[in-house]
Amino acid sequence: MQHFLSLADFTPEQIISFLDLADALKAEWRQGGNKPILAGKAMALLFQKPSLRTRVSFEMGMKHLGGHALYIAPTEVGLGKRESVADIARVLSSYVDGIMARVFSHEHILELARFSRVPVINGLSDYNHPAQGLSDLFTIREALGRLQGVQLVFVGDGNNVATSLMFGGALTGMNVTIVTPPGYEPDPVVVQKATQMAAQTGARIQTSNDPQAVAGADVIYTDVWTSMGQEAEAIKRRADFAAGYQVNESLLAASGNANVKIMHCLPAHRGEEISDAVADSENSLLWIQAENRMHAQKAILARLMGGA
Ligand code: CP
Ligand code: NVA
Repeated sequence: MQHFLSLADFTPEQIISFLDLADALKAEWRQGGNKPILAGKAMALLFQKPSLRTRVSFEMGMKHLGGHALYIAPTEVGLGKRESVADIARVLSSYVDGIMARVFSHEHILELARFSRVPVINGLSDYNHPAQGLSDLFTIREALGRLQGVQLVFVGDGNNVATSLMFGGALTGMNVTIVTPPGYEPDPVVVQKATQMAAQTGARIQTSNDPQAVAGADVIYTDVWTSMGQEAEAIKRRADFAAGYQVNESLLAASGNANVKIMHCLPAHRGEEISDAVADSENSLLWIQAENRMHAQKAILARLMGGA
């Protein structure tokens, strides 16, 4: 049985194979619909935090593949509070064929996987966001025709999304630079792990405090300055990031690439990490990126639950 907890758990070949399967499933869907390879299968979607994309893309992905999804709201389960994580995993395993969970502590994802008898998919933890990361690799490969040698510069907080982009780049030969204000760098343990993984593909993983590091970028990626759970720090973060870390037209120009692609996992706080003009520009991949969550995640569902 395979789980989907971190991109770092996979080999470069496995990641490419997920992307190829996603390509095939997207093409099949466009040609009239997917085959019902998950007929009779059900997946629990367990949320400790809000969601639009993750919830709806997994739910529709299951539906398109002939299966069924059950949404479990943050107020329902009380992960580790009303009931232990292990007991939740044991009970859900007897009802459903897969569990997707969005949690605060990554420990809870690991514990769900430890006690579950069905595959567990990480739908975001404070540590990483691998379903987003895989989908973003899919979107970049679709838009640019390759991943090897692509220059992706992430401007923002060294957060869960940044972590999955570093792991994803390391596994596919995409060079990733994480640009943050001082004090918001990604965890050095993560950077070191991604750097070690990158030896397999030749990717370069770097960090910087200088927004001018976007020079030469093929892709500029951003995410909210304040992630879910950090709301108490929002005012300080807004001040710290406002000093040059907004993805706006002048940052676009600093890339020196008129065709630079703009990505954001969404939800966006327009006027903070990204300007309206850039979010709605010709360079923006935001909407296709959000759509592709559904296509790429179908590959995860088909492989983990359908044996594809
Ligand atoms: N990008 C993403 O995971 O969006 P949601 O929080 O809406 O699921
Ligand atoms: N970094 C953001 C991503 C939301 C999809 C958060 O964790 O809130």
